[in-house]
Amino acid sequence: MTQEPKTTSQIIRRQTMEIGAARPVVTPLHQSVVYAAGSPDQLDAQYSGALKGYTYAREGHPNAAALAARIDALEGAEGGMITGSGMAAITAVLLGLLKAGDHMIGADQLYGRSLRLMAEDLPRFGVETGRFDPTDAHSLADALRPNTKLVLVEALSNPTLRVADMAGIAKICHDHGVIMVLDNTFTTPAMLKSYAQGADIIVHSVTKLLAGHADVTLGYVAAKDPAQRKAIYDFAVTTGMTPAPYECWLAERGLFTFDLRYARAQENATALADYLADQPKIKRVLYPTRPDHPDHNRAMALFAGQGGNMLSFEIAGGRDAANRFVAAAPNIAFAPTLGDVACSLSHPASSSHRALTPEGRAALGISEGFFRLSVGIEDIDQLKADFSTALDAV
Ligand SMILES: Cc1ncc(COP(=O)(O)O)c(C=O)c1O
Repeated sequence: MTQEPKTTSQIIRRQTMEIGAARPVVTPLHQSVVYAAGSPDQLDAQYSGALKGYTYAREGHPNAAALAARIDALEGAEGGMITGSGMAAITAVLLGLLKAGDHMIGADQLYGRSLRLMAEDLPRFGVETGRFDPTDAHSLADALRPNTKLVLVEALSNPTLRVADMAGIAKICHDHGVIMVLDNTFTTPAMLKSYAQGADIIVHSVTKLLAGHADVTLGYVAAKDPAQRKAIYDFAVTTGMTPAPYECWLAERGLFTFDLRYARAQENATALADYLADQPKIKRVLYPTRPDHPDHNRAMALFAGQGGNMLSFEIAGGRDAANRFVAAAPNIAFAPTLGDVACSLSHPASSSHRALTPEGRAALGISEGFFRLSVGIEDIDQLKADFSTALDAV
């Protein structure tokens, strides 16, 4: 029997979905922004925390919760939350926990926007900031002030891949009651479990290796202390730093292959580092498991023999050689990002470190011939051939 046609205003009434007795094997995508409660009593119980239930997507939704739970499991954390980007996670931590008159210290080679937040934005809100050399814990002790509340560190610096003295940093933070925040984006939970390194708070740019396909921007933050967790959550929700369901759904799908992707990318990075080190036009290669890395022993102990997927190298010649090198490697995305399934190559002197003077860059060891490579899961022989062609053009 054919049904009577209905108008839009007739079909618009909300209905409950029937999916039958079987369950979906993939996390369903819940695009709903609002969640209807059964009664004022129920809503009251939800807001008071007595009853678990969603109300409004900015405050939380099932796809963010599913993704957070999976990253919690990788980090050995609990109660983590997803944010709209890695920078949203870092900002929610800093602005959610610090107030005017507080002081924070960041490692001197953090991700560029973290450094910018410390240099340009926090001071506008009356938060004082300082820097230290993470390879030397004494420099952290020297930078401490009576009002220091928080330290932000990455275990592997960008782009020179120096290895932080995590044990030394953790000891100083804990001896002085300072919150230690670890941005574990570069190292990932496969190389480093943040809480085991003494971190009080973990942040990730999920955009990078965890989601792994360069199709979402997301962040993750977890805090051991429930009061800090609540302060960060409230700040992120109030300022609208929370993510959209579809992004979380995509990232969860990407995360399922994280172990496989990371293992293959590390294998490629190790082989490529050795290959590049043998090429006469390469001046130096920086990769943590190579014996010529300046922090080799610390890296081997901290990362249990793993080198990660990031490697840096320097070619002979200036900007002209760098331009020719990039132009001759069309298969390698020249893009200042990392963690995609395929390689991406960045040139710090013209991107992340362009604001520094040439002397400032030289002090960090970043010349016009310096490149940072995020190694992907491509065929290694193809990668070697691509780099060989690029080097021929220099
Ligand atoms: C170490 C590190 N932390 C944080 C971020 C910021 O993450 P997002 O781009 O997701 O905001 C990045 C981005 O490249 C990063 O490399």
